[in-house]
Parts: sequence; C-alpha cells; structure tokens
Amino acid sequence: MDYKSMGFQYHRTNLNYISYYRDGEWDDGILRKEDTVTISCFSTALHYGQQVFEGLKAYKRKDGKVQLFRPQDNAERFHQSCDRLLIPRVTTEKFLDAIIQVVKANLEFVPPYGSNATLYLRPYVIGVGENLGVRPAKEYIFGVISSPVGSYFKGGLSPVDFMVTEYDRAAPNGTGKQKVGGNYAASLYPNHVAHVNGYADCIYLDPLTHSKIDEVGAANFFGITKDGKFITPKSSSILESITKKSLMYIAEEYMGMEVEERDCPISKLEEFQEAGACGTAAVITPIGSIHYQGKSHIFYSRTEVGPYTKQLYDFLIKIQYGDFEGPKDWTIIVD
Ligand code: PLP
Ligand code: COI
Repeated sequence: MDYKSMGFQYHRTNLNYISYYRDGEWDDGILRKEDTVTISCFSTALHYGQQVFEGLKAYKRKDGKVQLFRPQDNAERFHQSCDRLLIPRVTTEKFLDAIIQVVKANLEFVPPYGSNATLYLRPYVIGVGENLGVRPAKEYIFGVISSPVGSYFKGGLSPVDFMVTEYDRAAPNGTGKQKVGGNYAASLYPNHVAHVNGYADCIYLDPLTHSKIDEVGAANFFGITKDGKFITPKSSSILESITKKSLMYIAEEYMGMEVEERDCPISKLEEFQEAGACGTAAVITPIGSIHYQGKSHIFYSRTEVGPYTKQLYDFLIKIQYGDFEGPKDWTIIVD
C-alpha cells in the first residue's frame, strides 16, 4: 500500500467487531471477516436515521508500538449521542474493548511511523429490526470497522480554500452536538456545491442568525488573532471536537497562548491572522481563504501554513505518535 499518498478511502482490513442488542441487553460481540450486515428493511437506521458513529485513529509510534488518542473521550461522546437518539448505551469498557480488539486484529494495517497515515477506526451503532412507526428500535447493532487512511483534505498541511454555505447542517436545539448520520446527510449537498465551485468544503454559520462561524465541513474551526490568541466558536450546534479540545490545551499549556471559546462573527475575519480546521480526519488543515458574499478573505497565505498553526500541528502529532508526552490520560498503548 502506498501510505504516503493515501487519501481518505476505505481499504479492506482483516477483521471487524460486531455485537447485537436483543431482549434488553448487549451480547459479548465477536470479531468477524465479512464487512456487511443483513438487517430488516424496516430498520429505524434506514428510515428515521436512528444511528450514531464515532471516529478515532490508531498511530504507529517510532518504537513500533501502536497507540490510541483519547479514546475515552470518543466513548463519552458516543454515550451522549446515543442518549439523544434513545439508543441503549454500550458501556465505556465495551466500547474501548471492541476498539482494542479491532486494532490488535488489524496490526498489519496500521501504517508505518513517518508515513503520516493511520488506522482509522469507526465505531457505529444502528437501530435494526422491524419497526414501521416513528419510535426507537428494540434491537441494535454496535460495530467497529477500520481502514488505513491518509489526508482527509488534499495536501495535508497545505492551506485549502473554503466557501460559506447558506445551508445548515443542524439546528440550534437539534442534533448538531451529536455525531449522528442526519447531520452528515444534510451536509452532502452543501459539500457538493463547494466542490463544484472549486472549494475543499464549506463553512457553516450558526443556524439561528447566520452571522457566526459554526463549523468547517466535518471539522471544527479555530483562528489565531493578530495578538496571538487561540479562538474557537462556542455554539450549541457544533460537534465538540476532541482535537479542538486538545489544541486548546496545547495552545495554553505548551505555547503560552490565551484561549477563548466565543462567537466568531463571519463579518470579522480580518481579526484572524491564521485559521484552521481541526478534527480526527482533518488533523489540522490550514485555511488558506474563506469565500463569503462574493469576496475571498485570505488568511496567512494561500500556499503556506502559518507559524502558530504549524506549531499547534507539531505538538498535536508528536503527542499522537508518541514523540512527545502530553497529559497522561491522552494516549493508550494497545500493542
Ligand atoms: N465536527 C464534525 C461535524 C465532525 O464530523 C468532526 C469529526 O469527528 C469534528 C468536528 C472533529 O471532531 P474530533 O476532533 O473529535 O474528531
Ligand atoms: C472524523 O474526523 O473522525 C470524522 O468523523 C469526519 C468525517 C470523516 C465524517
């Protein structure tokens, strides 16, 4: 496999994990080879979007060991998403055990240290079984699948351009905070429009007033002000990114920056000297420009990453790959 030029597509691995919820309880779950499920055509996941997922990565360290980055935080967010859609929780222990089983069963697919590629892990839960009315399913499937992946946005640390969309992916008291498929279904069309217009993805504004930055496609937004503060939106309709939370800590503790979670008005882009998109898949992708109301606002440069963004990136990936010891509970060595 050419790990260095790998994008974000599915490459089949050895085994995946599956567990069934029936009669009010989860079974023990198994590892299996087939990457398909057979479910009733009346499943709530198919019609009413009763499904939740997560995304995290396994990293190959310089010493050959493999580690996970903050998987407990993914477990916690999975619980919150399941609660919102009335899906029975899988315990944190079961969630972590399934992930570790999948990593161990697919060690040969964890890309080598230095390739910038990782093994992406996708825990998911879907409502299954016959169910015609709009009500929660009685049966569920919880699974963990995996795939080696490279950059989500083309070019890795090269800046990319985004456009502001007039569409919303979520509502103020909707499900924007949860990692549920419906948000991503709502993002497909605006994402398509962005691509057709030559942009990497779109920027969503807050759905109530359309005046403040909410998210950047499937990633959170951050900006660095001219006086070197790390700013990121506070909003009820964005997914609380684990990467963003980590960057807030890195900025404050390791880079001595002031950090603020607050409104980021789209009319005040000039307050930022640098901007970026952050997430598990996106890692940190510098934002070259944002197109809004017929004009493109250029940040640090359209072709080069800015110094703050580069330093944040370096700290983040050094911790993720085990080259720098971050806070104790951030990484778990699996093998
Ligand atoms: N926002 C959305 C909509 C996402 O899909 C993701 C990806 O998980 C993120 C933000 C980034 O979150 P995290 O850093 O936890 O991966
Ligand atoms: C992630 O960053 O893990 C995501 O889930 C983003 C996207 C691929 C849905």
